[in-house]
Amino acid sequence: MKLLIQGGTVVTHEQTFVADVYCVDGKIVEVGPDLKISDVDDVVDANGKLVMPGGIDPHTHMQLPFMGTVAADDFASGTGAALAGGTTTIIDFVIPNPQQPLLEAYHQWRDWAQKAQCNYSFHVAITWWDDSVHADMKTLVEQHGVNSFKHFMAYKNAIMATDDILVASFSRCLELGAIPTVHAENGELVFHLQQQLMEKGITGPEAHPLSRPPKVEGEAASRAINIAGTLGAPIYLVHVSVEDSVEAIKYAKNKGQIVFGECLAGHLVVDDSVYQSQDWNLAAAHVMSPPFRPKKHQEALWNALQSGVLQTTATDHCAFCTAQKAMGKEDFTKIPNGTAGVEERMMVLWEKGVNQGRLTANEFVAITSANSAKIFNLFPQKGTIAVGSDADIVVWDPSKTKTLSSETQYSKIEHNIFEGMAVSGVPDTTICAGKIAWQQGELKTAPGDGQYVNRPPYASYYQSQLKRNQLAEPQAVER
Ligand code: URP
Ligand code: ZN
Ligand code: ZN
Repeated sequence: MKLLIQGGTVVTHEQTFVADVYCVDGKIVEVGPDLKISDVDDVVDANGKLVMPGGIDPHTHMQLPFMGTVAADDFASGTGAALAGGTTTIIDFVIPNPQQPLLEAYHQWRDWAQKAQCNYSFHVAITWWDDSVHADMKTLVEQHGVNSFKHFMAYKNAIMATDDILVASFSRCLELGAIPTVHAENGELVFHLQQQLMEKGITGPEAHPLSRPPKVEGEAASRAINIAGTLGAPIYLVHVSVEDSVEAIKYAKNKGQIVFGECLAGHLVVDDSVYQSQDWNLAAAHVMSPPFRPKKHQEALWNALQSGVLQTTATDHCAFCTAQKAMGKEDFTKIPNGTAGVEERMMVLWEKGVNQGRLTANEFVAITSANSAKIFNLFPQKGTIAVGSDADIVVWDPSKTKTLSSETQYSKIEHNIFEGMAVSGVPDTTICAGKIAWQQGELKTAPGDGQYVNRPPYASYYQSQLKRNQLAEPQAVER
């Protein structure tokens, strides 16, 4: 397959220049102005458009069995939505049930993901601990291309990882050159507040944010960072949603700790007023954890992205339809947690980031693609436009407008948390593994076209992490 992208302006995380991009068999083989190439199967006219690395969404949950149901977007519809939004790679999660062997869960997810239409990879969650988990982590890293392990500090009585598990697993990550990641919310406090609210008769979706106030997240974020810091392990915090967590990350980074933070497109633009809606379905459609927050936290997240305290943007795409949300009609703790967004992420970030002057186009590429590639050790295979890189590319039309709506989305659910948002700047063509995967409203892939992406251990930051650990080795006093 030989594809020429002609006449566009290439934008990477560090450069902007006019160039054609020639792709052969899934790789970028030439980048330069006015390439004279006749041997092509397909040409994409990028005149007046930007040619950027395809988006990497480092946090999705397609087809997740969760809270008594299964997320409505499976690996086929969810990855179709990703391509429609300019995202060419997702990193999803294998979440073993407590006591389930990690490798069994991993193979189960690989099987489900066979119908994916874009590139995909997996973080693996550590939901319990014994010697087999310790051993399976090594197998996953060495034989299955997993270099990140997720820890849910919330969801008590389900998948919550307690401090003893965090200590054991972060230590194991360090031995393997993998990065521990955390969903930072204090699960004990959430559980306690949920019981209190139910006893008070506050049973609707408005109770959801009340059961997960900012301190609940900030405490867990600080704890996870301090555990990682004590052990000398790097750490990545998923879906940072409050100023309290941003401050914890900033503090640790200022002290020299290797800490990374992600925020969600939803948390950047949707506030907690949604839970006050008279319409139960609408309020419940926004039930996700951490919840949407008062506006002051959005400003903190934008500032953190701009200053580099947070490095990545994701969606936590975990779509539940109205009937599934209704499982919690009488009890908000039973509303399946999750919202969608994999299709809208890049458009929302362009509109509210670049068009509002908060981000440059290069910074946009950094936070939607390059930084995730670096943290999860895919760079420069992915996350940039360069000779030798994978031909995962979005041709972006900065002048085209669109109104985001559930009426036109690929996701299978009935609502859209960005409903009615007008955006200026949308994908024109998404190229995945060197082939046109989506173009001007038409999905051109089929389930199964997506490829599994191996991620090797020891991302670049590990070198300095190990060096500083070595220098800090405890010394016995010779007497
Ligand atoms: O509400 C959410 N975020 N659902 C998906 C699971 C998780 O916590 O990431
Ligand atoms: Zn989470
Ligand atoms: Zn998640």
